[in-house]
Amino acid sequence: MEKKLYSISAIYSTPNDIVAAAKAVKDAGYTKFDVHTPYPIHGLDGAMGLKETKLGFVTLFAGILGAVGMISFASWVAIVDYPQVIGGKPYWSWPAFVPVTYEIAVLLAVLLTVGAMIVFFFKFPNTSHPLHDTPYMKKVSADRFGVAIQAADEMFDEKKVRELLKSTGGEVEAIYYSEEFLIFKPQLFDPKFILLLIGVSLATSAGGYLYFNKVLYLPPFDWMVEQPRFDVQSRTDYFEDGHSMRLPVQGTVARGFIPYPYVLGAKADSIGKFLINPLLNSKVTLELGKKKYLTYCSPCHGNFGNGDSRLNGQFPNPPTLHSDKIRNWPDGAIFHTITVGQNVMPAYQYQISRDERWAVVKYVRTLQRAYNAKESDLR
Ligand code: HEC
Repeated sequence: MEKKLYSISAIYSTPNDIVAAAKAVKDAGYTKFDVHTPYPIHGLDGAMGLKETKLGFVTLFAGILGAVGMISFASWVAIVDYPQVIGGKPYWSWPAFVPVTYEIAVLLAVLLTVGAMIVFFFKFPNTSHPLHDTPYMKKVSADRFGVAIQAADEMFDEKKVRELLKSTGGEVEAIYYSEEFLIFKPQLFDPKFILLLIGVSLATSAGGYLYFNKVLYLPPFDWMVEQPRFDVQSRTDYFEDGHSMRLPVQGTVARGFIPYPYVLGAKADSIGKFLINPLLNSKVTLELGKKKYLTYCSPCHGNFGNGDSRLNGQFPNPPTLHSDKIRNWPDGAIFHTITVGQNVMPAYQYQISRDERWAVVKYVRTLQRAYNAKESDLR
């Protein structure tokens, strides 16, 4: 095994020494040298004359690539692949692409920066370096400081380098490496390593498969997702029509829901006889009725039911609610009118719940009594 000279190194024992040595090496004009310290030392970059890293440009490029790529992809999806009108907006609504573009730009910048560092700066797949496993590396990764000038430097002359390093007060030492340990020798393709990779991947796949498909389903594990059932819109051969669900039997009523059997056009006063107000007279009922009446009825019927609409002729004015006709109507007739509407008056069953409608009826009755108070009411 032939040994080759990699570099001449020098070891120092204080940070000040190494900064001075780095400056001396730089001033002597060497470029292929490196300094190793067990921890970061202030001012060393300046002393070594290091230029700013170019990694930032890789990141910038990767970020721009990510952003442009994502905008193009999103535009292609939005215009060509799956055009959809959402809220009446144009297909190419770029503000919607901003979050995902930002995310992809950051993601790609990060991944490509790390990738570039590993491949270009650390020369992957090479995994070794002549300095590895040398007495020099042992010292500088513990409590010493070292500088190493490479034999590959254009100005390299072993005698001169040794003199220079000695003059800075370091313990000079040569570092050799063998061809076998050469940089760029891709140890990744060692058949033993490949066999190991294959073995590990087979073992992890088999282990993962067994664990997630068998072990997790042994008793006592019980998964509710794993049960005989039909999923939404799934097909079955059990029923002739292929549907996995049946329609409810005709006339089925949902729990808590009372269907309203009368339709618009039916005579309010005759239907009214079949509907009884389930609410009792109480402060709570009247307050609820007042609130709903003022919200839903007063715009057209006026605050007191006189038919004095606030809509300035934009809607036909309704008749007064204090007519003999309405006063003699049964409660159910007013309820029916609110529920399904009457001629131009719209239905209110969707805005006002059943109990609220009955409360409104109570409030209309209260207004009517207030306008037609009897002698006895005044006492
Ligand atoms: C959009 C305006 C409007 C609103 C809101 C409205 N109504 Fe009416 N209402 C009318 C009109 C107009 C008529 C007359 C319909 C017709 O031509 O038969 C009417 C008729 C009525 C009648 C029958 C009157 C009669 O003499 O035939 C009653 C009772 C009634 N409304 C109660 C209410 C109640 C209670 C509310 C609140 C839940 C309400 N209305 C909300 C416009 C409205």
